Amino acid sequence: MELHAIATTTRHRTDCAIVGVYEKGLLSAAAADLDQQLGKPLSRLIKEGDVSGKLGETLLVTVPKGNAARILIVGMGAKDKFGRKQYRKALLAALNAVKKTGSTNATCYLSQETVAATSAYYLGRTSAEVAAHSTYRIPDLKTAKKPAPSPLKTLNIAILGSQERIQAEKGLRHGTGISSGMALTRDLGNLPANICTPTYLAKTAQELARVHRSSLTVRVMDQAAIRKLKMGSFLSVTAGSDQPPRLIVLEYKGGNSKAAPVALVGKGITFDTGGISIKPAAAMDEMKYDMCGAATVLGVFKAVANLKLPINLVGIIATCENMPSGSATKPGDVVKSMSGQTIEILNTDAEGRLVLCDALTYVRRYSPKAVIDIATLTGACVVALGNQYSGLFSNDEDLSSALVQAGKRAEDGAWPMPVDEEYADQLRSNFADMANVGGREAGAITAACFLAKFVEGMKWAHLDIAGTAWISGANKGGTGRPVPLLMDFLINHK
Ligand code: BES
Ligand code: MN
Ligand code: ZN
Repeated sequence: MELHAIATTTRHRTDCAIVGVYEKGLLSAAAADLDQQLGKPLSRLIKEGDVSGKLGETLLVTVPKGNAARILIVGMGAKDKFGRKQYRKALLAALNAVKKTGSTNATCYLSQETVAATSAYYLGRTSAEVAAHSTYRIPDLKTAKKPAPSPLKTLNIAILGSQERIQAEKGLRHGTGISSGMALTRDLGNLPANICTPTYLAKTAQELARVHRSSLTVRVMDQAAIRKLKMGSFLSVTAGSDQPPRLIVLEYKGGNSKAAPVALVGKGITFDTGGISIKPAAAMDEMKYDMCGAATVLGVFKAVANLKLPINLVGIIATCENMPSGSATKPGDVVKSMSGQTIEILNTDAEGRLVLCDALTYVRRYSPKAVIDIATLTGACVVALGNQYSGLFSNDEDLSSALVQAGKRAEDGAWPMPVDEEYADQLRSNFADMANVGGREAGAITAACFLAKFVEGMKWAHLDIAGTAWISGANKGGTGRPVPLLMDFLINHK
């Protein structure tokens, strides 16, 4: 879908004018304008009870006169509560309704209303994200013929003020780039583990580098190369699997060649059975999403390359399966990480930290100015924060608050959690430098404490996305989070 921010009035010719009505039948400016022009048809519908103004409720009306072939009335809820969340919901509902019509273009006037606590730029960005969301389709393997895509090709976002229009245009551009990354992240998460293997992730990275030849390079290391690097911790996770592991290194160069990069490190367990500490059967299929950290890294690289951001970025993806077998790692096994520190593996299901610690050691060679790892790391994080916020852990106050602010602006929140020394006591082992689990209490925090032992001297943050990377239930699917948060951080990074 093509997106434009345009200065327009309701006299503008369009297949469909999207106008809002607040609760209590309060007309938005554009709705009032059209109503006036056309002889009060909207007022009549409100009076007759066809339009309630309830947030997200839509009504399509065809009008024989005027410049709009159709009018889609969408409920905006209470006027004093109309903010970005409400805008998102109203626009999504409107687009879903417009797509069912024959409209090839539409003009949306919701953006002319006062949307609390935002700017024209973020309104543009949000609009692009919503538009992309409305057209996203899961790469399913259903054999029935796919429904024809909607004819809607162009969406105009009406913006008042020329300065605002320029800002909204920039927001649309950024939102489109971010959405391209989110779609890749979602696709990779949604693909089943028999397709989305470590090899597949590596191929995806190489394909990205092929498309963005001038700015992006990728190096893929196989098991032998990983062994050479002495990544004994990473290798212990892949030991039971027939799928070969991969270490994927991406380098994007858009900034000053001497500027230190930001580094992103992704957990890429393409399927997590738990290994010998095997998981219960219920919902185990969802462990195909255990590579969403890696998918986030790839999504961010795609978005950054598409937007040609003037930054340097490094991505490290440690990817393998976690399987039980005769060659699998056993509880009690002791392994040596690339850092030299030894680890007693008390639970083979705490495998994410085992692949991440070696990737975090590897990233040191870039002397990054900040390292952010992204991982579906713990069920405990889901217990603590649910599906609203990603867990944020950091050893650096400034980095942490920059990420919190980015999450707020991007509507992709992360909530700060502690990583105090005291929690690390739970990782004591009689047989190695540390154990890989710290008991039931504070599970998300002890996982972060484990990672913290490998990032000393680096500015580091860890995003636990176990609760935010996908949704379960009837609408099961990847969310594309936290691509928006990370993109906002990188766009605003100094
Ligand atoms: N990938 C899981 C975490 C997970 C579980 C994410 C459920 C989303 C939903 C991770 O590898 C894991 O198994 N973690 C264990 C750690 C425990 C053994 C200390 C967990 O959370 O149960
Ligand atoms: Mn696990
Ligand atoms: Zn896992």
